[in-house]
Amino acid sequence: MTPEELKALVRTVPGFPQPGIQFRDITPLLAHAKGLAGSITALADLARGVEAQAVAGIEARGFIFGTALALELGLGFVPLRKPGKLPVATISEDYALEYGTARLELDPTLIERGERVLLVDDLLATGGTATAGMRLLRRAGAIVEHALFLIDLPDLPGRAALADEGVAAHAVMAFGGH
Ligand code: PRP
Ligand code: MG
Repeated sequence: MTPEELKALVRTVPGFPQPGIQFRDITPLLAHAKGLAGSITALADLARGVEAQAVAGIEARGFIFGTALALELGLGFVPLRKPGKLPVATISEDYALEYGTARLELDPTLIERGERVLLVDDLLATGGTATAGMRLLRRAGAIVEHALFLIDLPDLPGRAALADEGVAAHAVMAFGGH
């Protein structure tokens, strides 16, 4: 599938989760056999030329694409989890949401020192989530220089925020003009 065909499978829901937001809903794409396969192929194409020894995905939607991409690349998958889910000692990073804060947690023993880790999530908006994920991975000893997303919202500062931290963002599609 072309990026345009994949983009047509993303549903836009105005006013969710709050007025003024155009929510980009990936569930129709996930439910579409060729859309799901095509999205993973497109992410794998973006990963070509990126040296990676593991894939890390961000709960929840980053688990869907991250796990499938790791299988496609023949790599293992490291989960960056929402709080309170891991049964072992974790490191954590808080990040800002529009209202309040959120937290991601990582079991640092899953990362080898100097391991090159490719960060994956479904969508890049402000970049707060991906930046927190990158910080966790680096604190655990990973080298994080690339992040992959299905969707970039280029009107928001995520790409620049990651670039400031030395992380190149790559995305299959973009939704601008909102
Ligand atoms: C959404 C999305 C990204 C993040 C992007 O996650 O899946 O992870 O927001 O926003 P940002 O770039 O402004 O940080 P969310 O935690 O809302 O939901 P999820 O648990 O369904 O992934
Ligand atoms: Mg998410």
